[in-house]
Amino acid sequence: MSDLYPLGLRVGDRLVVVVGGGPVATRRTRGLLDAGARVRVVAPDVTDDLVALAVADAVEHVARAYAPGDLDGAWLVHAATGDPDVDAAVAADAESSRTFCVVASDAELATAWVPAVARLDDVVMSVHAGRDPRRATRLRDAVAASLEAGELPLRRVRPAGTSSADAVRPGRVALVGGGPAAPGLVTARGRRLLASADVVVVDRLGPRGLLATLADDVEVIDVGKTAGNHPVPQERINELLVEHALAGRDVVRLKGGDPYVFGRGGEEVAACRAAGIEVEVVPGVTSAISVPAAVGIPVTHRQVAAGFSVLTAHEAVDDVPGGPGHTLVLLMGVTRLAVTAEALVAAGRPPSTPVAVVEDGYGPRQRATFGTLGDIAARAEAAGVRPPAVTVVGDVVRLAPGWAAHEAGGGPVSKV
Ligand SMILES: C[S@@+](CC[C@H](N)C(=O)[O-])C[C@H]1O[C@@H](n2cnc3c(N)ncnc32)[C@H](O)[C@@H]1O
Repeated sequence: MSDLYPLGLRVGDRLVVVVGGGPVATRRTRGLLDAGARVRVVAPDVTDDLVALAVADAVEHVARAYAPGDLDGAWLVHAATGDPDVDAAVAADAESSRTFCVVASDAELATAWVPAVARLDDVVMSVHAGRDPRRATRLRDAVAASLEAGELPLRRVRPAGTSSADAVRPGRVALVGGGPAAPGLVTARGRRLLASADVVVVDRLGPRGLLATLADDVEVIDVGKTAGNHPVPQERINELLVEHALAGRDVVRLKGGDPYVFGRGGEEVAACRAAGIEVEVVPGVTSAISVPAAVGIPVTHRQVAAGFSVLTAHEAVDDVPGGPGHTLVLLMGVTRLAVTAEALVAAGRPPSTPVAVVEDGYGPRQRATFGTLGDIAARAEAAGVRPPAVTVVGDVVRLAPGWAAHEAGGGPVSKV
């Protein structure tokens, strides 16, 4: 049975002696300084890093070989000289003065072992894995990756009865771009912020499947909009973000796609800043690029399209760069397809220009309807196309695997 008793040492302003001046001693010194310790380094020769720290008075450097008495006043000792005999002498002196001692060259001689550590904000996870530091490091890396990805429950839980007045700090708001619909398309940063949120304000579009990963006591506010129906006005959404943050809660505004692509993210950020609230924007995978990609349409492709424009189908489309080599991506407004297609033809695009309407990209209803500017409105109507959908106009549409089937007389292509 192991006699290891895990502890977190509070070394702030306490003397720690590091005996040795090589890379291991340097690493240990850096870690101790980060934790606020006073560090004495005993070694005749030290690394450039340690020289710089000594010159800056960040450490006390005793520039000679170890001698008894060097440990006086120490709360903790690290022996990392690279010489097992010197390390053993340091360990023996530490033992007799009842000071815990880490020994780099011999775990058995040591009275303290250094764990592999994963840190994220105020969370510190230490891993000991028997005498096998590599195993500990691998485990630590796995823990760190899960922490970063937001797969662990990072959220602070405020004790019952704590009111907003007791909140230690004001809450923060993060506008998280959730990507189109698939949970896997949110960024690791977004996932992590979601894992520590107290309140999640969510849209209809975006990866709503992620909501199932939240703890039961996370408040989820659904401000989802459906076409023609705006249950929660934008001004009220802005107020909600501010109110919850002022009450000391960490708020994630989970948005479909990217917050700044037709997402009114700028207004939400402005509202938070005006109220003095810290706000972060986490970019997301926009549907403008990803939804075409879901059915095999690249928005640019060498020798086919050298650029693309993203606009809403509600905007005037006639002054957008023309030509089959410039892809147009239209968000929203599938119901206005006939008007949009006519306007594009009137602006000079040939009626034969390929078009794809992609519904519910990455979702269970994903389907692509193909046509041309001349006939897409009729085809979409016949197929019963519904929002959300992205419309792509340009020669890149021919690159979709479903285009050939369309030309052979096939109908819309659903996800298999
Ligand atoms: C208000 S805009 C928000 C766009 C979002 N910020 C983005 O970057 O993807 C909503 C429009 O995005 C498009 N959209 C979003 N998610 C979609 C999806 N999974 N499939 C198809 N279209 C989608 C539709 O055109 C929809 O009407």
